[in-house]
Amino acid sequence: METKTLYLTDSYKKTCTAKITSITGNGNLTTVTLDQTIFYPQGGGQPSDQGSIWNTNGKLEVNQVLTKNNEVVHTGKINGVLQEGDEVNCSIDWKRRYDNMRVHSAGHILHEAVKQTFPDLYPIEGEHGKKAYIKYQGNLENVSEKLILEKANKLVEENLPIHTEIVSLKELTRRSVWVPENLPKNKPLRIMWIGNFSPIPDGGTQVKLTSEIGSFISVTILNEGQNVYVYYKISEIANPKKEIVTSEPKGTKTFNREEIINCKNQALAQIMSAKDANELEGVRIAYLGRSGKLTNFIKSIKKVPEEDRGQVGILINQAKNTIIEEIANRKNSLSVSSRKWFDPTIPGIKPKAGHLHLVTQAIREISEVFEKIGFVRVRYPEAEWDWFAFEGLNFPPNHPARDDWETFFVDEKENPKYGPMLLTPHTSSGQLREMQRSKPPIRMINIAKCYRRQSDVSHTQMFHQFEGLVIDSDISIINLKGTLDYFAQNFFGKGRSARIRPYHFQFTEPSFEVDISCGVCNGRGCRLCKEGWLEIGGAGMVHPTVLKNGGIDPTRYSGFAFGWGVERALMMKSGLNIPDLRLLYSTDLKFLRQF
Ligand code: DAH
Repeated sequence: METKTLYLTDSYKKTCTAKITSITGNGNLTTVTLDQTIFYPQGGGQPSDQGSIWNTNGKLEVNQVLTKNNEVVHTGKINGVLQEGDEVNCSIDWKRRYDNMRVHSAGHILHEAVKQTFPDLYPIEGEHGKKAYIKYQGNLENVSEKLILEKANKLVEENLPIHTEIVSLKELTRRSVWVPENLPKNKPLRIMWIGNFSPIPDGGTQVKLTSEIGSFISVTILNEGQNVYVYYKISEIANPKKEIVTSEPKGTKTFNREEIINCKNQALAQIMSAKDANELEGVRIAYLGRSGKLTNFIKSIKKVPEEDRGQVGILINQAKNTIIEEIANRKNSLSVSSRKWFDPTIPGIKPKAGHLHLVTQAIREISEVFEKIGFVRVRYPEAEWDWFAFEGLNFPPNHPARDDWETFFVDEKENPKYGPMLLTPHTSSGQLREMQRSKPPIRMINIAKCYRRQSDVSHTQMFHQFEGLVIDSDISIINLKGTLDYFAQNFFGKGRSARIRPYHFQFTEPSFEVDISCGVCNGRGCRLCKEGWLEIGGAGMVHPTVLKNGGIDPTRYSGFAFGWGVERALMMKSGLNIPDLRLLYSTDLKFLRQF
């Protein structure tokens, strides 16, 4: 049963009641699912909550929380007995949760700070637990960590509101600046945004105000291969209302938990910005030296009332150990980064190589196949006069056959000789251009973009055609058939052949439709082709009127022509079953990289 996740809408909810929907034991661990929960399950880089689930009969100390299918699964050690159907109380370890929340929100704040300087850096993943970082695609060389740190802290100081909102997938897609590839299917979708920045998808728990994170104490940039990790650390903050540890008798100096933590935070900030070993030593003396700031706390511990002395002692000791540890870490990283030599034997980073678009690959292959038998690749205008695309090809004005080429017209103004301007709906317009430009013998292969008013799973408004034209003395259908068979074998593979069937085109007489034998059944007939043949396009013997229009004497010369779609030929060749041809031109790299 799906668990209602209360933390998504109220991240400050510390307790709730719920009903146990299932309970199972495994060794000394027990797993419980509930109808609703405040426990945050590990995910999105944020660690899971801990806490307890109990009633008068038993208590589960929850140690690990995960999502499985649509359920939140709480696992831990049990004392006493809990049963399915039991009403139970839940409470989370608030300190742990609040810290996780702060670190998580801090990650988002840091991201905004990084984006201010590097708007194009693309985030890949993040971790917002003990080790906190954002991983980006790309590198950051010679970038000041301090600059990013300052920008992030400025956002904290501005005390901006952090908003969250549960949304549908549609709304998320509309509002979010990016949509992750694998959106969780087992969680409600939510977006978050800071102040007036753009919303992004997020399912973690967030604080309400940026100031709640305290402050960033360090930002560390680490380039690794083609990625860069931006690590960050934030300050601990005390909750002064509840957690004042001690106070001295009235009239004397008091100090509390917050003071100790502030002292430690200041020390850490200085350690992180220290530029060399000397500066580090200075920081050490300022805090841990004979009259260092932390040492002074240690000295005055005598004044703390006895019952609080133990706790304060622990706090100071922790602060001291952290400072010592961070000084050592910093020393280490300073000595690494100050090395002046470089190692030329380290293997280089191989840049990602792209590849040609699927259709470009096909165009090149088609050109090569025809160039081998003496065809010359040509290009003619894509914005063309009506006369070349229609009238000169024997389509009188207003001829109904024009409707088959759903044409885009470019301009209302007409050329007195050639009529209106349009986007070439087929490569046949190149036939007349070629005849006007050169004299027989002609062997032309015209590959170009074509445009028609059509868009569906098997049509794109822009597509490609290739057009062959051969004109010489004594050219017959036999030459056409031979050329088509040659193409079938050299483009589709040995053993394939072409077939021509009578048809009608205005610009050829006789005209044919061309089929290629099916590569799956070798012409016997199968589920793909039905009758053994797959239709590819049109062909024919150039109409005498068209030859005349091209300035060629039809009594001396004859010719053949053929033409069809590059995309269609490509689909037939590769057996690619692309469900929607529009994907080819969608600029979706995930799709295009496959080929
Ligand atoms: N231009 C035609 C079309 O777009 C195809 C075609 C048919 C081209 C016959 C030719 C041909 O060269 O002879 O559908």
